Amino acid sequence: MDFLAKTSDAITDLEQRHANTVRELASECLVLLENDGALPIRNPGRIAVYGNGARHTVQGGGGSGEVNTRYKISICDGLIDAGFEIASNGWLDRYDEIYDSNIKAYMDKVESIARERGVPATSVYFEMAFEAPVMPKITEEDVAQASCDTAVFVISRDSTEGRDRKPEKGDYYLTDEEEYNLDFLAYHFDKIIVLLNVGGVIDMSKLKHRRGVNAILLVGQIGNQTGYVVADCITGKTNPSGKLVDTWARYYEDYPCSNEFSGLDGNTDDEFYREGIYVGYRYFDSFGIMPLYPFGYGKSYTTFSNEVISVTQEGTDIKIWVKVTNTGTEFAGKQVIQVYFSAPEGEVDRPYQELAGYAKSDLIYPGESMNVEVVFPIDNFACYDDDYPARVIPGGDYIIRVGTSSRETKIEAVLTVPETVIKEKYTRLLEDDPRYAFEDMTNPGTGKAAHQAVEDAQLAACTRRFTLDMSRIRRSVIRYRGVTETHIDQRRDEVLTLGSVIGRNAGVAELVAQFSLEELSELLVGNYIKEGFEDIVFSSAMHVPGAAAETTSRFEHSRRIKPLVMADGPAGLRLQPHFKATKDGDLLRGGEMFGLIRTEFPEDTPADAIDYYQYCTMIPVATALACSWNLKLIEKLGRLVGEEMEEYGVHLWLAPGMNIHRNPLCGRNFEYYSEDPLVTGLCAAADTLGVQSVDGKGVTIKHFACNNQEDNRMFSNSHVSVRALRDIYLRGFEIAVKLAQPFCVMCSYNLLNGIHTANNYELLQSVLRDEWDYEGAVMTDWFSSFEDVEFLGYDEKNLKYPPAFSRLCVYAGCDMQMPGCAKNAEDIVTAVHNGRLTLSDVQTAAMNVIRLAIKCL
Ligand code: BGC
Repeated sequence: MDFLAKTSDAITDLEQRHANTVRELASECLVLLENDGALPIRNPGRIAVYGNGARHTVQGGGGSGEVNTRYKISICDGLIDAGFEIASNGWLDRYDEIYDSNIKAYMDKVESIARERGVPATSVYFEMAFEAPVMPKITEEDVAQASCDTAVFVISRDSTEGRDRKPEKGDYYLTDEEEYNLDFLAYHFDKIIVLLNVGGVIDMSKLKHRRGVNAILLVGQIGNQTGYVVADCITGKTNPSGKLVDTWARYYEDYPCSNEFSGLDGNTDDEFYREGIYVGYRYFDSFGIMPLYPFGYGKSYTTFSNEVISVTQEGTDIKIWVKVTNTGTEFAGKQVIQVYFSAPEGEVDRPYQELAGYAKSDLIYPGESMNVEVVFPIDNFACYDDDYPARVIPGGDYIIRVGTSSRETKIEAVLTVPETVIKEKYTRLLEDDPRYAFEDMTNPGTGKAAHQAVEDAQLAACTRRFTLDMSRIRRSVIRYRGVTETHIDQRRDEVLTLGSVIGRNAGVAELVAQFSLEELSELLVGNYIKEGFEDIVFSSAMHVPGAAAETTSRFEHSRRIKPLVMADGPAGLRLQPHFKATKDGDLLRGGEMFGLIRTEFPEDTPADAIDYYQYCTMIPVATALACSWNLKLIEKLGRLVGEEMEEYGVHLWLAPGMNIHRNPLCGRNFEYYSEDPLVTGLCAAADTLGVQSVDGKGVTIKHFACNNQEDNRMFSNSHVSVRALRDIYLRGFEIAVKLAQPFCVMCSYNLLNGIHTANNYELLQSVLRDEWDYEGAVMTDWFSSFEDVEFLGYDEKNLKYPPAFSRLCVYAGCDMQMPGCAKNAEDIVTAVHNGRLTLSDVQTAAMNVIRLAIKCL
């Protein structure tokens, strides 16, 4: 096999360039939550650094979202590099000792359980979290040694796929030791800066107003340059311009359905999305609940004034110009202008407000101004109306609010839609089994009532009022085409290859028509895990070690269809950084890395084996990316990933992840962007455009859809109203598909209203393809149609729902079953023989795989 990996482990130009790019761009992902002037620290000096993330900074979450980088710059490393002298080494060394012994004990436990059960260590790793050890107390002696006036306290949290977070100390809440140490610092230091090295929301009720805390910076998890990026921000080289993409509640209980989430109600089989569309700020604002930090919030080292200059309609868009002035004297900075709308009260229940559009300014120097343009389609006013059913823009007055967070806005215009526009007329789809019926929450109006007086005054003063011309808004009645029959009669005598199709000597259908049923079934199933490599659960790609899987290589020579290599995940490429192969190109075992699990190269590794290296760049996790509110930045980082795919021979990136942050405890929220579907859709589209700007490289948006909990993730049934689906959970995917045509979509593990998403014809054919005109291919999540549930860590007796079926994947329009096993292919053949699947269904999926192979050339 020819590997593209390097045979030298020297840092390549590309690697260095990408490290520089991340260092430069990631600073925009940081959100300054509090600052009384303690930040920035212009002159680095002695500084005491404590907390579990000081040296063990979490760069990104675990699981498939992990990236194996060459090195990691911790917060301490970054501060030292910036010229600070760390004054707390005694405490840090004590923590290291505890940490190292805990890691050892954890690894021994994982390995012994794995041995006992005869399963790979990686599967145990998924079930059993490594918990950051209890940190030592800071002592009088530590403080005496420190002899400085400023302390930095780094609070880290890690989470991973396969399990949800817990509303417990050490996860959502501060630990007793964190609280003790913070109090101790408050007593002994003049200034305390708290850095939140977390992937998602944590409880801030005991931090926001904590005595002695002068500044709180949400660092997030921003990749392997974290330390440098943080130091740049702390020293004022960069100015934080990130804004929250989630509502940070005062109390966990303030989130809707908080006590029922995932296993908190003792039931992980059925999850009822009773809050309907009231997710995140839509809930807090409509129900009149005060958040601790609202959606869109974030401070800066400077101050800005924002003046709306104009609000106009241009074609089917609304355009808003805002003059942003940096009113500070010292720091240049960037401002985010956010536009929200309140829809008219009418037949369809609407939230108090919804995000309509946003834009970020360039760097504005003190005293200077810039005109920022926010453009968004009028279509963003639309919602799903179950009565038709259709996507409609209800007639009435739309109140336009412009500001810098969901709670800091001013009414700037009232736009009238003269009469209801039925934009897209649908068929009734995706409904749940009536046995599970429930009513979604509705807007009680309490949020609006709370702001009524201010609102009335602003409305009275608002002079920008006009009626929108809706004549150019596209209206359509969706034609559900369904699966079109493939022409199997177009047989040609000569053997066709992918080359024949590319050379336009044959069509895709003609090529497919030459495949036997058995061959077709192989095309729809990934390359089976090679014998001897089975324990590397998530690494079944032999062409690029460490990638998550690849499509079949069976037709590489006969039909010139190369296997397509797929690699995780949202924070960069997850590949094996160091591997060995024989001189003939046969991959040798060992060197795999998965989280904390590493495998050694066995003793019988030939002495003349060739060493290969493939170090990738870790970019900020998706939530942190979204916090930049800078779509160009996300596009650039997407392109960076695309270039690394090119470098190492990966065709498809198993990212971006774009599930909605329904509840802060979802174990994978860090891999997803936001609680808001518009932010989610626009970020995913930008990421997609970035990656796909590199020829032949594609993304896989995932997990389609409603994968909002991790416990029992393969067998939990998400019960969601069609309204909430259309307006919240599918909306981001719809935006990404329509704006960027990702090469692939990955289904989720869960069932949606009773049907596994990979088996859901209405979701994959009717909605994704027929309504949204999706042109790409669809794949399962890993092992979704793998019936050996014990291998997946489940006990069949305890399962309420069956696994997804291979046959139904093909029927529903899920073209590729990954990573694939012989049984998947056999099931497809048997189903056609039994008349439970048509040959045409199989051919249609095969055509999608071949079209994908052409795009990836
Ligand atoms: C995850 C996917 C990932 C796949 C391959 C699954 O466990 O849910 O997001 O892409 O593994 O690693």
